[in-house]
Amino acid sequence: MEKRKIYITDTILRDAHQSQAATRMKFEEMEPVLPLLDEIGYYSLEAWGGATFDSCLRFLNEDPWDRLRNLKKYLKKTPIQMLLRGQNLLGYRHYADDVVERFVEKSIENGVGVIRVFDALNDPRNLEASMKAIKKYGAGGKCVCEATMSYTTSPVHTTKYFVDLAKQLEDMGADNICIKDMANLLLPFTVYDLVKEIRAELRPETKIHVHTHNTTGTGDMINLMAIQGGADIVDCALSPLGNGTSNPATEPLVATLKGTQYDTGIEIEKLLPIVKHFNGVAERLEKDGFLNPKVRRIDINTLLYQVPGGMMSNLMNQLKQAGKEDKLMECLAEVPEVRKDCGYPPLVTPSSQIVGTQAVWNVLLGKYKTITAQYKDLMLGKYGQVPGEVNADILKQCTANGEQVVTCRPADLISNEMDTLTKTVKEKGFYEKEEDVLSYALFPEVSENFFKWRKAQKLGVDTDMAKNPNKVYPV
Ligand code: CO
Repeated sequence: MEKRKIYITDTILRDAHQSQAATRMKFEEMEPVLPLLDEIGYYSLEAWGGATFDSCLRFLNEDPWDRLRNLKKYLKKTPIQMLLRGQNLLGYRHYADDVVERFVEKSIENGVGVIRVFDALNDPRNLEASMKAIKKYGAGGKCVCEATMSYTTSPVHTTKYFVDLAKQLEDMGADNICIKDMANLLLPFTVYDLVKEIRAELRPETKIHVHTHNTTGTGDMINLMAIQGGADIVDCALSPLGNGTSNPATEPLVATLKGTQYDTGIEIEKLLPIVKHFNGVAERLEKDGFLNPKVRRIDINTLLYQVPGGMMSNLMNQLKQAGKEDKLMECLAEVPEVRKDCGYPPLVTPSSQIVGTQAVWNVLLGKYKTITAQYKDLMLGKYGQVPGEVNADILKQCTANGEQVVTCRPADLISNEMDTLTKTVKEKGFYEKEEDVLSYALFPEVSENFFKWRKAQKLGVDTDMAKNPNKVYPV
């Protein structure tokens, strides 16, 4: 049989501890095994994204840009991969194109070698600016542009929908196409067909990269079937932080493919000291209360209700706060209705929260008696184009006070912001490097607290502040 080497991206430095341990792995817990990880022969090591950036600043007293540069010092052969939320970058709003361009430039300059870029709604217009920047600053093999489709199920999310989207992203310049199954909704036979169909339509040099989780217990089967369907790269996490809400574990897949036509070329023996090290890290995370072993259990609720795990816990929390925990089943039945009314967005941040909250309000207050501001914005196209048709009656309710429907690319309505942001950071006295402006743009309050701590440490003026970075100090 024809040999086709399969590549693995290991997520141990990003998604693994984000999914299982609130993103609390420190750089010092990565450092001892970075030289070993670099020798394994991974396609890439995923190490940076919104939550890691936020957690560095908020909880770990690390400058996320320093973390990136420090990782790069050790990872000389293996590209560092990051996850970018399109026009939202790592934050929670749309940014102006000049911020997007500068952010991508600085990420690549500081060591990122693969950028996986996605949009919650799969609106290609929200990927335009970042993809253009990746192609510009990553030219000459410096950075791979991996355009991503958020996987979901709905009447509009047919195989044809994903094949057409993959082709469109390839035409926009994508080197790789990623199928991102963040909620573990994919099924093994579905991914086989999906990858096969997409493979048949893409250029041979375009790689297909599959990302799934093991929340519902199907993750290993998904990876195996994706490989047989024609996927080139799959995501795994080393076993100490693999499986459950995280990605399928690395070692079983390496062993499964060993000696077959799909051999990864990875030697399991080389993984052992790394696994041993991260077992210790996982123990520390558990001891400090960041990792609850429960996250490794199989939970098939996602498959039953098509509601991602994180969204389920949000729903339960909202109902608990209202003292209406008995309404959970009603809310779970309402979610698909609310989702249909706003054109079937994939249920990923932020649409999962928007749809979930509206479903709770519908159940508790009466159907669309009150429409949340975010749901209105989603209906009005402010987040981008939703995949399907929106409910015309509810849209009418959303435009009752003269609100306009946005039909252009949402970022076209935002003027350049870099100059103002730079001025603000300088005026506040925190500017040390251009990257500080980008940190501030993404997480203004958290960054300010971090900058104050950094300043205090340098001046040695306030040891109390050095201990408590989140304490808010007047400037
Ligand atoms: Co993930």
